[in-house]
Amino acid sequence: METRQAAGELPTEQSRKLQLPASCDPPQQDAPTKQQIWIIFGGTGHMGRSLVKCALSHGDFVASVGRSFEITQPADLPQHENCLNLRCDVRVRESVARIYERVLQRFGHYDVVANCAGYGVIGACEDQDEHELRDQFETNFMGTLHVIQCSLPYFRQREAGRYLIFSSTSGALGVPGLGPYCATKYAVEGLIEAMLYEVDAFNVKATLVEPGLVRRDEPLDYGTNPLPMWGHFLIKPASEAYSHETSPALHAKRMVTWLRDRQPTSAVKCAELVWQLGHCSYPPLRLLLGSYAIESIRDRLRCVTEELEDWKHLNFPIPPGEEGSTVGQNKQQETAGNAKDDVMEDDRPDDMDADQVGEDNVMTTS
Ligand SMILES: NC(=O)c1ccc[n+]([C@@H]2O[C@H](COP(=O)([O-])OP(=O)(O)OC[C@H]3O[C@@H](n4cnc5c(N)ncnc54)[C@H](OP(=O)(O)O)[C@@H]3O)[C@@H](O)[C@H]2O)c1
Repeated sequence: METRQAAGELPTEQSRKLQLPASCDPPQQDAPTKQQIWIIFGGTGHMGRSLVKCALSHGDFVASVGRSFEITQPADLPQHENCLNLRCDVRVRESVARIYERVLQRFGHYDVVANCAGYGVIGACEDQDEHELRDQFETNFMGTLHVIQCSLPYFRQREAGRYLIFSSTSGALGVPGLGPYCATKYAVEGLIEAMLYEVDAFNVKATLVEPGLVRRDEPLDYGTNPLPMWGHFLIKPASEAYSHETSPALHAKRMVTWLRDRQPTSAVKCAELVWQLGHCSYPPLRLLLGSYAIESIRDRLRCVTEELEDWKHLNFPIPPGEEGSTVGQNKQQETAGNAKDDVMEDDRPDDMDADQVGEDNVMTTS
């Protein structure tokens, strides 16, 4: 029989066996861990709630942030002396900024910001109206930007800080029926990947968390939990063109309605790994959670690589001497042996060739 794991209780044996790889220097089991202060946006949702409970169970302090316009609170929100329950709308920068003020008032500082706030609309790209498109971007992309921009000055000044940004496998591959949601997650991935280069000098770190299909599995969750079974998705009725039984656009809907509580990945186990991520010394850029995430992203990367290999011979250099050619005759002869197929070589302006540009300029690398 399942037993309830209340906030403050130790994590289950099963979840504690999970350990991030030693290369990232995760907290050691049974060794004391430095107590940290977390802000978890989306802390009332399916994955965020498990993360809130996990961090509390390890003795950390948590500000758990739900959505401001929800007036009904899930019955079992963690009521814990180390937990501050707050509300905001991540689409509104000021309401996000207020969260950080409240946390500083209460805890004096914060170490880790996790953003689990997000949602998606299931429906064909053509069927989703402008409001649905914009709202997904406002929540998933602008929300992430607000969460980061309102705290980054603080992290920079402290020269320490960590972001755990929930993306998705949909940030790495296009899923039919989830086009706009995928677009928001791709945008988040680009933002974080670029930002990491900028903030590394300030000792600010970030990880994109990419869960696969995650079931809610807090003990005794079913029946008592008011959250919808597939959490962050709203299903839009399909228009006639996309409503046939085998329409690819219905793939996402078929998947979530069939899966229901059969999602292969455990939210509780994910939370344990994400908690370790908040405490490890060398966090990765991406943390893929669950076999579905790993298999689907690996397949996608394999497709991209294979396509690249199939098409790489196609390029259209302008022959030297013809109008538009930017490579001098001599240079062309020099490089013919090793780079004659490289369109980048021919596209370089004359003053950007390897002899004239500094050695550390990326344009000079072959
Ligand atoms: N579960 C999965 O299988 C899965 C897979 C891949 C990626 N993800 C990603 O993981 C994250 C969490 O997913 P989940 O399954 O936990 O979703 P969820 O159960 O629907 O929870 C979403 C959370 O976001 C909050 N939220 C939504 N809109 C908001 C807004 N405008 N302002 C502030 N908060 C807002 C919700 O607040 P309320 O509770 O007040 O509505 C809730 O706390 C999402 O980014 C999702 O895309 C999840």
